[in-house]
Amino acid sequence: MSGHPAPDPQELLAVAEEVAAAAGELVLTGRPDRVEVAATKSSPTDVVTAMDHASERLVAERLAVLRPDDGFLGEEGGHRPGTSGLTWVVDPIDGTVNYLYGLRSWSVSVAVVSDEVHGAGRPDPATWTVLAGAVRDPSVDETWTAVRGGGARVRRGGSPARPLRCPEGPELGATLLATGFGYDPQRRAEQAAVLARLMPRVRDLRRIGTASLDLCAVAAGRVDAYYELGLNPWDFAAGWLVAREAGAVVTDFTGGPAGTHGLLAAGPRLHPVLQRALAG
Ligand code: IPD
Ligand code: CA
Repeated sequence: MSGHPAPDPQELLAVAEEVAAAAGELVLTGRPDRVEVAATKSSPTDVVTAMDHASERLVAERLAVLRPDDGFLGEEGGHRPGTSGLTWVVDPIDGTVNYLYGLRSWSVSVAVVSDEVHGAGRPDPATWTVLAGAVRDPSVDETWTAVRGGGARVRRGGSPARPLRCPEGPELGATLLATGFGYDPQRRAEQAAVLARLMPRVRDLRRIGTASLDLCAVAAGRVDAYYELGLNPWDFAAGWLVAREAGAVVTDFTGGPAGTHGLLAAGPRLHPVLQRALAG
């Protein structure tokens, strides 16, 4: 981040929490009894609702006031390059299909990353540094937060924030595994084949439907591990930091940096075991 003054990570976190909370409130209280699909994206199963757009608009507008020099990258198309070297990476509703059906697992995910972005380019998970992140889960009034080098926390309701420590992880046969599926049918078929190999070897599987909350669940030991192929940067930026700062190991399937090509999060003892199991 040469040439730019070092940002205060705690100040960045406060902004992330503020905008995630405001958007979460809008999405929760503004949910109509029957949510309509506003459009489809990469495939007929990849849906977007009016609320995804409203939430992204709210976050983008607030950040433009609070952090006018920073860039913005949102799932629903919002992209504004900045001049500070920082970019806000936002999923305005992570878990849109759950939201559509009235299931309670969805979040607003807000992260701020530093990366040398040129022109109209986007920050890249292969080169960025995630500085702070907040994952707001309004259905259960939980906020998951992390600051780079400053640990991860969860706060429920008005209680004080509790530090997170990811457990080491059990053996494979006692592992509660989480995963997710992309929207592309071909990719789903491949993901199902991998899962068919793993299922007889683990305790059980959860498909929560919200990548950011899967990562937070690993951080808190609510599941033992989470893996997915094909995530977008906004799905994992904030949750990645929460899991990492809680002590989870988060890599791709071969131990390199996590990204769209693969993400595996687990406690330090379980991670290499799962890495081998995923390899075949
Ligand atoms: C999706 C969810 C889901 C994961 C998909 C993501 P969206 O995000 O996080 O759990 O399996 O890969 O695309 O579309 O609800 O924002
Ligand atoms: Ca989304």
